[in-house]
Amino acid sequence: MPNLNLPFLGHGGDYNPDQWRDCPQILKEDIRLMRLAGCNLMSVGIFAWSALEPEEGKYDFDWLEDVLDNMHAAGISAFLATPSGARPAWMSQKYPEVLRVRADGGRNLHGARHNHCFTSPVYRDFVGRINAALARRFGHHPAVVGWHVSNEYGGDCHCELCQAAFRNWLKEEYGTLDALNHAWWNGFWSHTVTDWEQIHSPTPIGEMSVHGLSLAWQRFVTRQTVDFIRAEVAPLRALTPHLPVTTNLMELYGQLDYFELSKAIDFASYDSYPRWGGPDEEWTAAVAAFNYDLMRCLKRQPFALMESTPSQVNWQEVCKLKKPGMHLLSSLQAVAHGADTVQYFQWRKSRGSSEKFHGAVVDHVGHEHTRTFRDVQDVGLALQKLNGLQGKMPEAPVALVCDTENRWALDTCEGPRREKHYLDTVLEHYRALSRRGVNIDVIDETQDFSGYRLVAAPMLYMLRPGVAERLTEYVKNGGTLVCTAYTGRVDRDDLCFLGGFPGPLRKALGIWCEEIDGLYDDERNGIRMNGKVYPCRDLCDLIHAETAQVLGTYEKDFYAGRPCVTKNSLGAGAAFYVATRPEADFLDDFYRAVFDEIGVNPLVDGLPSGVQVAQRGDTLFAMNFTGGPVTVALPKGTDALTGKDIGGETELGVNGIRVVRLL
Ligand code: GLA
Ligand code: ZN
Repeated sequence: MPNLNLPFLGHGGDYNPDQWRDCPQILKEDIRLMRLAGCNLMSVGIFAWSALEPEEGKYDFDWLEDVLDNMHAAGISAFLATPSGARPAWMSQKYPEVLRVRADGGRNLHGARHNHCFTSPVYRDFVGRINAALARRFGHHPAVVGWHVSNEYGGDCHCELCQAAFRNWLKEEYGTLDALNHAWWNGFWSHTVTDWEQIHSPTPIGEMSVHGLSLAWQRFVTRQTVDFIRAEVAPLRALTPHLPVTTNLMELYGQLDYFELSKAIDFASYDSYPRWGGPDEEWTAAVAAFNYDLMRCLKRQPFALMESTPSQVNWQEVCKLKKPGMHLLSSLQAVAHGADTVQYFQWRKSRGSSEKFHGAVVDHVGHEHTRTFRDVQDVGLALQKLNGLQGKMPEAPVALVCDTENRWALDTCEGPRREKHYLDTVLEHYRALSRRGVNIDVIDETQDFSGYRLVAAPMLYMLRPGVAERLTEYVKNGGTLVCTAYTGRVDRDDLCFLGGFPGPLRKALGIWCEEIDGLYDDERNGIRMNGKVYPCRDLCDLIHAETAQVLGTYEKDFYAGRPCVTKNSLGAGAAFYVATRPEADFLDDFYRAVFDEIGVNPLVDGLPSGVQVAQRGDTLFAMNFTGGPVTVALPKGTDALTGKDIGGETELGVNGIRVVRLL
């Protein structure tokens, strides 16, 4: 299968010439402005179906050919979009089955986008035909370097076609109703089913209490989306095997398992909308970096930053402008973490409808004399200087596990607190690890752990078959594992492990969790450790150290003095357990001590918090998200953006970045 494999770092954005077909002057001006902005890669025609097929079976591709020809003549490449993200009105009118059915059983009306059934044979047929037609006409066009398939796949459909597909998938998964009844513990509340037809997707007007069903439905939604993607890309693969296929993914989107979905595409792309200018820029930057590290790990390949805004979005409660410096800093942050492109939503602001005030390279004023345009030009120049980085993978000594199926299981799980803060917890560990100044891989529990010096797997409540065994092997072979409260409770069907938590990790962690206390939102216990007391929140596992050594104890309540932080040596490695949800100061001290113990060195020593570093090949990025100027001690090299020597104590201005080609 082809890779992203661009001969340059890409720069550009979503381009919707379909909205301006009656304005040839504007289309011409677009090309001039793209060159001026240093853009070389556009994603074309993402929502253009009604322009491409104005009537059933009648394609009008000539306008698109002109656009691609003009782009090519100007040296600009294209990710060509398939238009399935939104269908034309004539289709919904004539074939209502293409529209989605909600969990309450009602069918949606035509409207919005991403509003189609993933099972409907009629929809699949329309998609297949237009994709084949696009591939035949443009698959060998010299401007086209890849397929942008659909847009931000998501959501589910509860129609009868989807119910039937769900039941068929369940038959494959479980084989017999007996096996399914057992896996879902259906004896509870008399939920035993005696006919496959009795099974319906989870819905607030029916079944929501069977966790095994809820989990199976979420798995099915991913599988059915993947099935749809495979059907959607089949004609592309057949007619244009030389072109890589991608689809754009969303920040922390929990409803699809992206590791599973990525098996259907050639490279990952990501739509990044951090809330720059908020109350905690370091946190915002850490969340952004976390997402980039995840995107890079989905295919173990560089990814495309498919969307980002050059100025502001229009859909946050308050839409902040990017302050001076932030556009370059935030764009290169993605490159530092493995992006081979910096692309925007959107190239030109639309004139009407819901996204007319979303940031764009070209504003309604229509010319290049804007702050945003100059910011975009700066990124274009910087990317030219960094050319050659594309294709290089950042290497990480540390992995953080963020598992989507685990997230689903925790979200449905009732008790010991409604909100378990799984994602927040994972992100807090990410920020603490990133403060240590190392590259981090973000992976799920299906991935290989073996190459890492340290694997942090907070709140791994669900352990699918083999995961505990692989983690145990990893530790025995010299790895360092960090687990936290609420680990090892259920198996892949959400059935509790019998014989003592954390189930199959009990031996590796050397502890038994007898009970777990839930804390009110504003309630705190404390961890006593190394002469300090650190506050902790939410969940307190009451554990017995079986073979583990006790490093810290609870401060308060009837379990004061009982173990809270433990370390179990096993084979050549060690497994730590932090039995609660600590705050940042604990995590900083904890990881500092663990890194010292196992000898993982930072890329840059003594980083002030808010300064991030990342390394890609021989290129080190130091990025200032502190909101003020800072000084950091950089290694010696050449400043890739200025060509000057750099090294030693170096000042980074507000929103400043230094890119060092190491000697
Ligand atoms: C998403 C979509 C785009 C656009 C942007 C706006 O990422 O993919 O089409 O709506 O949001 O931020
Ligand atoms: Zn459906």
